Order: sequence, then C-alpha cells, then structure tokens
Amino acid sequence: PNVTIMPTTEDASQTVADMFLATVRTNPACRLGLATGQTPRRIYAKLVDAVRAGRISFADVETINLDEYCGLPAAHPDSFAAYMHRELFSSAGFDAAKINLIDGAATDEAAEAVRYANLVRSRPVDLQLLGIGTNGHIGFNEPGSSASSRVRVVELSKETLAANQPTLIELHEVPARAITMGIADILDARKIVILATGEAKAEAVRRSLMEHPDDNCPASHLALHADVHWVLDQAAAGLL
Ligand code: F6R
Repeated sequence: PNVTIMPTTEDASQTVADMFLATVRTNPACRLGLATGQTPRRIYAKLVDAVRAGRISFADVETINLDEYCGLPAAHPDSFAAYMHRELFSSAGFDAAKINLIDGAATDEAAEAVRYANLVRSRPVDLQLLGIGTNGHIGFNEPGSSASSRVRVVELSKETLAANQPTLIELHEVPARAITMGIADILDARKIVILATGEAKAEAVRRSLMEHPDDNCPASHLALHADVHWVLDQAAAGLL
C-alpha cells in the first residue's frame, strides 16, 4: 500500500482533502464514497472552504455513504445523514438528488439493506474515504467480517459502542445495530483513502499494515486492493 505520514492531523487531513479535490477536478461527475465520525470532519471543512473560495464545484458529484445507525430518521441529530448535512452537504453545493444515504428509519431493515446494496452495485465509487475503528473496523464491518461481506444489517461491538458514546448529541445510548456497506463493496472502489489520526488508532493501523489479512482486523483486508492510500499523522503511525 501507499503510506503517507504527515507531521500533524491538520496536514494529514489536507492531504486527503487534496485527493478529493483532484478526483473531482479530473471527473466533475464522479461518485465519492463518504464516511462519518470525528476523523473526516477536518477534511469536510477544507472541502467547504474550497467551495467558498470558488476553487471547486460539487454540483455534479454523486455521493454514497458507508453506513448508518438503525432506528434513526435522517432528521435526528445523531444520524449519520444529519452529520453529513451538517459537516458537508448543506454548505458545499451538492445536488440533493445525487446524495445517497441509508434510511436508518426503515422499519424493514433487511429490505433497506437490499435497496442500498443495489444502489452500491449500480456504479463504482471513484474515491472511497475510510476511517478506522480502534478495533480495526472499516465502515461498521466489525471484527469477524470477511473480505466477501456485502451491505447488511450488523450488531455493533462493545468497543464501537463505547468509542461512539461520547460523540452522541441527543441520544443517551449508541444504537445497537447499523446497516453498513461490506468489505467487498469497499474493495470495489477504484481508489481508497483511509485516514487515521491520533495515538488511539496506532495499534489498529499497525495490525492492518504489518499483519496478514485477517477477519479479526477488518481493515487488514484493504491489502487486497491495488490502489489504497493510508494517510496517517505521526501519532497514528507511532507503532509502524
Ligand atoms: C463512519 C465509519 C467508521 C468510522 C470509525 C472511526 O462512517 O464508517 O468506520 O470511520 O469508527 O471513527 P472516528 O473517526 O470517529 O474515530
């Protein structure tokens, strides 16, 4: 894989933002695969800045998100849909008709997973953004997820529930289930960029890059992809 280590979180985020800008400049009607969480926030802020400065337009870009909690409507502040609108979509000139999100409020979760699986398959992602969990998850593909996994309903691990608890806005507990793109869906992207920042991610980064691919560390399956870029700050690269 391609590993870039930057001195600060800010520099690492800028590196990833620049990859997004380059992809959109090359192909203004590309499909971008997007993630939520704390890690991408600086990237999205930089993309919003680029739009405000007139350096890019996302008007023709299609987006597809990785995952969503079950049980939350898009309007709920803790939904990943609300996060995306807050952090990026509402201020960066995206076309609402080209935004693809999982419906967390779907009463038939299995049917929603099938709908989303078809959407994912309908067109390849040009650049897929990933973060990594402290347990090595990508999307909500928790330890035990195989390289052939596809869009499905999953149970979140104890580690993920604990990690996401402090990020809640209104909810008191992290939802127990989610719908996520699978590892095979992620590997279908033409290009993948995974950003990891902070010491808490160092062990997951080390396992993913230095150990053989293993279902117990889902991000290690990225080794199967020919064009994956790891972008790290010094702290996340500390165990390499
Ligand atoms: C979010 C996602 C997750 C996060 C991961 C890291 O859409 O798919 O895999 O990327 O949990 O989260 P943060 O960035 O909050 O540490």
